[in-house]
Amino acid sequence: MKSTGGSDAEKRAAGESAAEAVEDGAVVGLGTGSTAAHAIRAIGRKVDSGLDARGIPTSFQSRELAKEAGMPLTTLDETDAVDLAIDGADQFSGPHLVKGGGAAHAREKIVDAAADRLLVVADPSKEAERLDHPVPVEVLPDARTTVAAEIRALGGSPTLRSAERKDGPVVTDNGNLVLDCDFGEIPNPAELATDLAALPGAVEHGLFVGMADEIHVGREDGVEVEE
Ligand code: 5RP
Repeated sequence: MKSTGGSDAEKRAAGESAAEAVEDGAVVGLGTGSTAAHAIRAIGRKVDSGLDARGIPTSFQSRELAKEAGMPLTTLDETDAVDLAIDGADQFSGPHLVKGGGAAHAREKIVDAAADRLLVVADPSKEAERLDHPVPVEVLPDARTTVAAEIRALGGSPTLRSAERKDGPVVTDNGNLVLDCDFGEIPNPAELATDLAALPGAVEHGLFVGMADEIHVGREDGVEVEE
């Protein structure tokens, strides 16, 4: 699993802290990435000790991990409510996030938005005064050129994400491509989110505006919870 930013100890502290919020009977959205993976493993251990909880994975990766951790799974179609979601972030500023480093932001946004509470798990390297991380935009393959042109017109610089271990682009779990769009500093995330959402052929973008209810920031010496 690709790991970015802070240390594994920081990510583990954040993931395990958020996993403590999972109560008996809970339906939990399971985020993607190396920090969310620690939360999934910690919830798995609680399930192993008798906790009744079901998970809704946000990616192939988180589904496999949850199965490995022995966690019962469900879907948004089968449940009335999602009590909480635990998910990572590539950058956060207050309750605003940039996500999609694992190309899973479309499903993450669906599940995170459906949850009563979103607990973000992060290491300190993810915190920013203002968002300036490139925003991933998942696009239908046929729309990559037209969406890239629209992104440039909005002042962004799009790059097609390519796979690290083989030739060719990254393909999402939904069969689409990802444009990483550098806008520099993002003074108004809500406005940019609206603009990106309006682009024909753009399936979902990685700006999660005002979505975090709690941010568990793991440090070498403990966890800070920002609300
Ligand atoms: C996946 C994501 C991840 O949550 C984000 O990339 C953070 O990953 P990590 O915890 O490995 O740094 O948005 O689409």
